Amino acid sequence: MTEQNFIPKAYSNTIESGKVTWESPSNIALIKYWGKKKDQIPENPSISFTLNNCKTITSLTFSKKENTTNFEFEVYLDGEKKDDFKPKIETFFNRVEVYLPFLRNYKFKIETKNTFPHSSGIASSASGMSALALCLMSLKRQLNPDMPDAYFNQKASFLARLGSGSACRSIEGDLIVWGRTGVIEESTDLFGVKYPYKVHENFKEYQDTILLVDKGEKQVSSTVGHNLMHNHPYAKNRFQQAHDNFKALKPILESGNLEAFIQLIESEALTLHAMMMTSMPYFILMKPNTLEIINKIWKFRQETGLHISFTLDAGANVHVLYPKNEASVILEFIKNELVAYCQNGHYICDQIGMGAKQLTM
Ligand code: DP6
Repeated sequence: MTEQNFIPKAYSNTIESGKVTWESPSNIALIKYWGKKKDQIPENPSISFTLNNCKTITSLTFSKKENTTNFEFEVYLDGEKKDDFKPKIETFFNRVEVYLPFLRNYKFKIETKNTFPHSSGIASSASGMSALALCLMSLKRQLNPDMPDAYFNQKASFLARLGSGSACRSIEGDLIVWGRTGVIEESTDLFGVKYPYKVHENFKEYQDTILLVDKGEKQVSSTVGHNLMHNHPYAKNRFQQAHDNFKALKPILESGNLEAFIQLIESEALTLHAMMMTSMPYFILMKPNTLEIINKIWKFRQETGLHISFTLDAGANVHVLYPKNEASVILEFIKNELVAYCQNGHYICDQIGMGAKQLTM
């Protein structure tokens, strides 16, 4: 597969107007994507759990227009016009136009909402960009109805990647790999693929309770963060470590070895933050309460032998990960001991999910 496979031939149908709606989930990486090359190509392979409850719902209304000189679109979040979202979408349209040559032929209204609060510190770029990519693919499918489902998903993931790297892991469930690794034959830098090997029962319906430690705007955009991996003194070793972790993860997922799983994902989370702390300029995205929570998790794990663990994304929030069969005791602990460290006591209960869904044709 190369980029060329996604450049379309002539369309067989003409469509004047219509509306499609998709809901698309967020995802949480276990092996992290941090560092990219030109054209949103990742420096290392990553793998994520697709989430179930943190979603973006996007409707795309389209009508044919005469003048094809510009992109024409309006964006609404929760019913309110959002002109500040336009530059990101304009950049996205420019990047994907060669793969969706109809973009200048339509006027679009993009209406979007998230199931999680906008200012929760939860990145909406993965769910948002994947939902938009899926809506555009639905229009494309109306223009070319004989498109196989597998191609639809691949191209949706490919387009989502061009909007935001991690968004390419938000099309399907439940464990998604993005980036070429020798461990997984079908893996590619171009789009996300479902993890193809055996996954132990221990990981079915794995729980993710997201503790909202800091709901403020991101201090450092992920694009800036990724770029700091260029000329980073530890970059080469970090990228190699991600490859090595893929090799280690395969037998862990197969055998259900939770101790080894916990060690691997916590090390990945801390490595991500270590890369930020050792870049130039350097920065710290964890807050004192992030560390309080991590220490409490470690103490509780040691005392109980339960399989509670954490991961982090590029922010202060903590994703508490644990198996379904330990959920009731661990959730009690979270409510009694950890929620106090969340901003306004806010947290979100989530678990592994099955991927994006089309809501209207
Ligand atoms: C720390 O996908 O947000 O969440 O490609 O620049 O849009 P862009 O970056 P983005 O980066 C996410 C990084 C991460 C780790 C991960 O999800 O793998």
